[in-house]
Amino acid sequence: MAPYLVDWRSRYRGTALGVVEPSTADEVAVAVRIASAHGVKVVPQGGNTGLVGGGVPLTKHEGSQQIVVSLRRLNRIRDLDLLDNVIVVEAGVILQNAQAAARTAGRLLPISLAAEGSAQIGGIVSTNAGGTNVLRFGSTRELVLGLEVILADGSIWNGLQRLRKNNAGYDLKQLFIGSEGTLGIVTAAAIKLFPLPHSCVTTFIAVPSPAAAVRLLRYLQSELGDSLTAFELIERVCLDLVFGVVEEARDPFEQSYPWYVLAEVSATVKEVVLDDIVERSLASAFEIGIAMDAVLAQSEKQRVELWRLRDEITEAERRHGPSAKHDISIPVSRISDFLARAPATVRTHVPHARPIAFGHVGDGNIHFNVLAPAEDADCINRAVYDLVTTLGGSISAEHGIGQSKIELLAHYKDRTSLSLMQRVRRALDPSTTFNPGKLVHVPPVRGSDL
Ligand code: FAD
Ligand code: LAC
Ligand code: ZN
Repeated sequence: MAPYLVDWRSRYRGTALGVVEPSTADEVAVAVRIASAHGVKVVPQGGNTGLVGGGVPLTKHEGSQQIVVSLRRLNRIRDLDLLDNVIVVEAGVILQNAQAAARTAGRLLPISLAAEGSAQIGGIVSTNAGGTNVLRFGSTRELVLGLEVILADGSIWNGLQRLRKNNAGYDLKQLFIGSEGTLGIVTAAAIKLFPLPHSCVTTFIAVPSPAAAVRLLRYLQSELGDSLTAFELIERVCLDLVFGVVEEARDPFEQSYPWYVLAEVSATVKEVVLDDIVERSLASAFEIGIAMDAVLAQSEKQRVELWRLRDEITEAERRHGPSAKHDISIPVSRISDFLARAPATVRTHVPHARPIAFGHVGDGNIHFNVLAPAEDADCINRAVYDLVTTLGGSISAEHGIGQSKIELLAHYKDRTSLSLMQRVRRALDPSTTFNPGKLVHVPPVRGSDL
């Protein structure tokens, strides 16, 4: 059972009576019914790549026992319809396999993140995963058309529709998307597909500052419109971390720059010569001083190499040692303000801390991580999240709350939102069978609440 009881960063180790590996939605339902009849708690788990300890059981849960329900064996692609432009996949399908099936059929499944070789559709849906294409296609929430979910009483909710429009009452699937396994177990999802791009340009751009990066983003969007599909900000120190662990990684430039942007431009219109358009736009960006240098990938191999520099940051950081991670979002207009203030704020509390910043700047989502010993984390967290709150941001943009931020959510979220979340959770899962101790605490019901 060992791999199911520890999270990807080895920060949380739990205990469980056992790991259940059903292979159909009916079998998941039976497992939930049996567990719930015996007061056993159920922890849904996908690829176990989550970064907030949501998919592993607690060390102890108030004396109650837990099982892990792994969705790994629900790994069928049930349908791929080119007229509906939809793929219907079971929860245990690895994201990369779903992307490949879509590509083979001549379609794009746009959800993309560094963990796509292990993360599963059920985990992607349950965390409302973001990633590098949100700028153009939105988060998972915007791409899911329907879901099949096992409820806390062991019944199956068949909401696996593939409708683009449906205002017949509450949009129930949205409750489950991003609920981190606290409201039900997702067993299948219908996800939107898009036309495959005919051409693509990947460029690594050196920029003088985060403020310049934001201006470059808006400038490129005004030149290239929707064809700008990814725009990732990378601080120099992140590249140095990657060079330390990925032997074949090379600096795209001869000299070092303070900040970089990895941007991708894709054309779905045939016979558009993208390279020329991107090069012209970059030349103007150099002239107005919002970009300093750039390389364009000349082959698929170079494209993969450039993306590796971005995708390996989290793994390089893990290998480096402990860090306090902050997956924050703020309005895009305040990113440079945040990045100017946050390192100094952290250092007033922990002088030896080493902040690093990268992420999905086009979505206002920065991974502001601080390399520092674990005992400094609480103090660093408060300093960062207080600043984020002052700037009108969120303490979690895409990774969720899990067990690592449950107390922080209780502190930073307003009372009304917390109370609504508790009421939703209680309504769908009155005995807290699913994923106790994750996302939001549910206090016992008092007589006056009934
Ligand atoms: P797990 O880790 O197994 O579970 C995550 C949560 O979902 C848990 O609370 C679990 O209980 C619940 N869950 C899992 N399956 C189900 C199910 N079928 N039904 C109900 N609940 C379920 N995330 C991003 O958003 N964007 C990124 O760019 C990104 N990059 C990453 C890069 C790396 C290197 C790593 C390690 C992680 C990254 N993540 C990112 C975080 C993570 O990959 C995502 O959150 C992913 O969606 C988790 O999928 P999983 O299958 O591994 O889920
Ligand atoms: C990424 C993860 C950390 O963007 O969300 O690489
Ligand atoms: Zn991310």
